[in-house]
Amino acid sequence: MKFINQEDRIQVIDGETNDMNIINDITGFGTTNQDEPFYVFNIGDIVKKHQIWIEKLPRVIPHYAVKCNDNEVVLATLVALGTSFDCASKAEINKILNLGVHPERIIFANPTKQKSHIRFAAMMGVKTMTFDCDIELHKIKAICPDANLVLRIRCEAEDAQCPLGKKFGCDPSTEAVKLLKIARNLNLNVIGISFHVGSGCRDYPIYYKAIGICKNLFEEAEALGFNMTLLDIGGGFPGDNDKNIDEVAMIVNQGLDTYFAEKNVRVIAEPGRFYVSSAFTLVTNIHSKKNIYDETTDDVNNVMYYINDGVYGSFNCLLYDHQLVKPILLQKPDDDAKKIPSTIWGPTCDALDQIVVDIPMPDVNIGDFIIFENMGAYTIPVASPFNGFPLPKVFCFISRDVWLMIRSLIPLDADDFIEDFLNKTIEHAIVSA
Ligand SMILES: Cc1ncc(COP(=O)(O)O)c(C=O)c1O
Repeated sequence: MKFINQEDRIQVIDGETNDMNIINDITGFGTTNQDEPFYVFNIGDIVKKHQIWIEKLPRVIPHYAVKCNDNEVVLATLVALGTSFDCASKAEINKILNLGVHPERIIFANPTKQKSHIRFAAMMGVKTMTFDCDIELHKIKAICPDANLVLRIRCEAEDAQCPLGKKFGCDPSTEAVKLLKIARNLNLNVIGISFHVGSGCRDYPIYYKAIGICKNLFEEAEALGFNMTLLDIGGGFPGDNDKNIDEVAMIVNQGLDTYFAEKNVRVIAEPGRFYVSSAFTLVTNIHSKKNIYDETTDDVNNVMYYINDGVYGSFNCLLYDHQLVKPILLQKPDDDAKKIPSTIWGPTCDALDQIVVDIPMPDVNIGDFIIFENMGAYTIPVASPFNGFPLPKVFCFISRDVWLMIRSLIPLDADDFIEDFLNKTIEHAIVSA
């Protein structure tokens, strides 16, 4: 079935398809004048990720980190799949509650919260929240004294795309017990320990170490009289289409078997990147091109391409998320095409707006499309329309099999989907005639 170019509706696709077929439909195999960048979002990819999570980490209840990608269809899909949620602010909590999620399925996992946000969370019944210092405890005591508190400790990967330890988490050996004692004196209820090893973690044994540290702190907290029931192992799980969670899952499971063999502790995680990275493919278009000539030979020794999305848009992920992106040409070049060092720039008037530098690329033309896979994490929510360049549209699709599976559970209207669009149009034409 052909993809119908309707950005605000989800197309139900019959039979086998993939992102590339959809991109070819939208761009007319690279021939249409598709002037603006766009995403193709494969809902089935998120469903597949969830199945992998359940299979590989059966004891760990995923609380999707909304900050990673708060696209409404992403969230609705995850609601249908039954995940819980990690929210960092009042607005994120509101968004999730509006999708019909029970407040107990939300953890307010921002250790430093504005008072008004705590007040809102408390009013809405979101009582599980993290903290990592004494002043936060006093704030929570004043606003939400019956909160279920989770102490965030620092246990950082040696190698992570985005380390978080400088900003969050108390020192587990020098600060954690002191904070637990303060919570005790304030008559607050601590129910668990959390950590985040760093987003885009590349040092999986750290999870084992962190789970061990949590076990010790559980014992310390129980000795202080707390009833410890929650272990939160945070995020950091890979989500690109060329990576898997086999190794990290094995290490986490070993950690749980070693330190939390008794099943009375609820184990949760806050995966963001894992669920969404590979579900989104970005399609950009070259609108300008500049050859750079060698002064002596007059040969072209570098080519500069200018595309319609950049670091102020989707590629903010280069700056904030330290991602590496790989351009793929939609129109496949000949195998023996000569490659020239090439630089790809975004559309704004800022020279910071640079996407890749001096990578070998065959000569391509204005109007050609460049695709970037694995663009679902930490891209869309951060992007701005600086210089008047609009944010990419998102074209969503779902295969009929997957749709039938989640249709009754997804908090979206039937009108949000286009089913059998072509056939209906033909039927309508026949009836009208
Ligand atoms: C508190 C918290 N939880 C979860 C996440 C999601 O992490 P990831 O996308 O690496 O899974 C983040 C990311 O910054 C975070 O700060």
